[in-house]
Amino acid sequence: MSSEQSLVDKLKALEAEALDRVNEATEPEALEAVRVTFLGRKDGRISSILRHLGGLDPEERPRVGAEANRVKARLQEAIEGRGTTLAASDAGRDALGGEEDRTLPARPRWPGGRHPVTQVIDELWEIFRGLGFTRVRGPEAETEWYNFEALNTPLDHPAADEQDTLYLTGGHLLRSHTSPVQVRTLEAYDPPIRVLAPGMVYRRDTYDATHAPAFAQLEGLVVDEGVTFVDLKATLAEFARRYWGPGTRIRFRPSFFPFTEPSAEVDVKRVFTNEAGQEEETDWLEIMGAGMVDPAVLDAAGIDSERYTGFAFGMGPGRIGMLKYGISDIRAFFENDIRFLEQFADR
Ligand code: DAH
Repeated sequence: MSSEQSLVDKLKALEAEALDRVNEATEPEALEAVRVTFLGRKDGRISSILRHLGGLDPEERPRVGAEANRVKARLQEAIEGRGTTLAASDAGRDALGGEEDRTLPARPRWPGGRHPVTQVIDELWEIFRGLGFTRVRGPEAETEWYNFEALNTPLDHPAADEQDTLYLTGGHLLRSHTSPVQVRTLEAYDPPIRVLAPGMVYRRDTYDATHAPAFAQLEGLVVDEGVTFVDLKATLAEFARRYWGPGTRIRFRPSFFPFTEPSAEVDVKRVFTNEAGQEEETDWLEIMGAGMVDPAVLDAAGIDSERYTGFAFGMGPGRIGMLKYGISDIRAFFENDIRFLEQFADR
């Protein structure tokens, strides 16, 4: 009868032969045939060899059994691996209509682009840069002093209420507007000052079609000797014409902000050409708050309010983008749905 050694040798030879055939298999059917031939329970070649185990001395059997198990496992693994490779190249071939064409250009993939709100900020910035402004920024985690008190807003003002403002620990809060950058700029620079400060602001708001707890604002500040309301109006009118076109008009409505006096809400009316080719005007659209910097704000920041005056304005680039693109739900800006964002692809 077969000795232990010759059975082990037979298993090893079988293993080598089987592995060759696995690697030669080019379709799933061939692979399955290899599996049946070698690993089949009843008539498989490994099972046939093991039928001779009974002729061995009892102490020799375990070694042969262990070797058989190793070969089975190895084969099983090789067959599965080859199967995966074949399936993958099959899919590749199918996608190419049965034939690989390595000269085909890669399928285009959108590499990403600037967020629509960032695009609006950049457009607004280009215009103000042309009007002599520089760009500054301030921290998003602010103190009550910069966010409220230095802006002439007492802490018992409703805006400072915990209902509206997100407070952090350690005496900080998330700025509820970009106006604190006014104070930081006045502290850091001497007039003449002409700055634009875009950035994110945070409010304790419901998340719905018209509110988001985080959104972009863009703050403007001009301080010098002899700055008047006429400068404010002329600057904003020029900005509006450059952004919305030469026929654009602006209108000031009296309003109130603690940090400006007088204060105004600014509306724009745009001219556009309708489908019939006629010129038409939009309704008045509210686009920003503005006013003359309250002397108390200049004083709080250490600027001589007897010598200097200034104006400030604040607008929402998100809102301007919604008007521009006809977006009715602000949440579209935050959901990062590629199908939405791709439509604004600029590169
Ligand atoms: N900070 C105001 C807000 O968040 C917007 C604003 C109004 C800014 C008037 C200004 C301004 O600079 O002059 O609602």
